[in-house]
Amino acid sequence: MDFNENLNKKIETVNNALKKYLAPKYPERLYEAMGYSVFAGGKRLRPVLMLSACEAVGGKAEDAIPFACAMEMIHTYSLIHDDLPAMDNDDFRRGKPTCHKAFDEALAILAGDGLLTYAFEIMLNTICEKRDIRYAKAASYIAKNSGTCGMLVGQVVDVESEGVAIDDKTLMYIHDNKTGGLIKASLVAGAIIGGATEDEIGDFEKIGYNIGIAFQIKDDILDVTSTSEILGKPVFSDEKNNKSTYVTLHGIENAQEDFKTLSEGAVKMIENFGAKGEFLKEYADTLINRIN
Ligand code: IPE
Ligand code: IPE
Ligand code: MG
Ligand code: MG
Ligand code: MG
Repeated sequence: MDFNENLNKKIETVNNALKKYLAPKYPERLYEAMGYSVFAGGKRLRPVLMLSACEAVGGKAEDAIPFACAMEMIHTYSLIHDDLPAMDNDDFRRGKPTCHKAFDEALAILAGDGLLTYAFEIMLNTICEKRDIRYAKAASYIAKNSGTCGMLVGQVVDVESEGVAIDDKTLMYIHDNKTGGLIKASLVAGAIIGGATEDEIGDFEKIGYNIGIAFQIKDDILDVTSTSEILGKPVFSDEKNNKSTYVTLHGIENAQEDFKTLSEGAVKMIENFGAKGEFLKEYADTLINRIN
């Protein structure tokens, strides 16, 4: 199977599983709103990272499918809430009106809550079904890195830093947590489910740190260099909200250079996983040239 076939197969498998989890039921508006945001588009970065980290340590990708879906639900919840008027106040996401525009604010908040809670329901059901401590460890790592030691706290400091002159240390804290949190969680949880050793888990934390920061630096760059058609979300959102970004703090050229150094560092670390890590390595490579 070549790289693109493998990638499309992973994305399709995750999408089919997500469709089953999100099949409409009462109250229909809630399922409609959750499904609307999950299926509006999205690169499925985090599920793909999870499945390929699982394979890189010798595991079977299919074992990580429920957790990969849970991760995409947590990510989509973070996007729905990130776009709310109280946060970044953006009207487009994944090429469509944001959840609060297509529905209303109350339902967007609840759809985000719904996706977050459902993600944990899915993970806990999997733990009960498999009776394997690896799944509990993976869920614990995901909880930590989505919440009080990851995405949530990154978002808090991001919002509190609007209109404030922050230093590089604070910016790195924001990027490592708001974006690095879920990326690290995807890689490490995938590796744990795949049977990783403690050393391999440590390696994936480092890879996740690099990819996470690099991914957000690129997001900051695209916010000022791309178009809303290509991104499927508004450009100049950071400027509108008076956010400090990697670009405003370091300039576009340094941002591009540091992005490249971090990304190439991640690819080098993945090379240590040999043939089993080949897909993940190629995938990390594609992120270097991503345009959306
Ligand atoms: C957007 O994430 C939010 C950031 C962390 C920058 P993605 O760029 O992965 O968004 P989708 O899932 O493809 O829509
Ligand atoms: C948000 O960062 C990261 C999240 C946790 C959602 P941004 O606010 O820069 O993400 P976009 O640009 O809206 O996707
Ligand atoms: Mg934001
Ligand atoms: Mg935003
Ligand atoms: Mg952004």
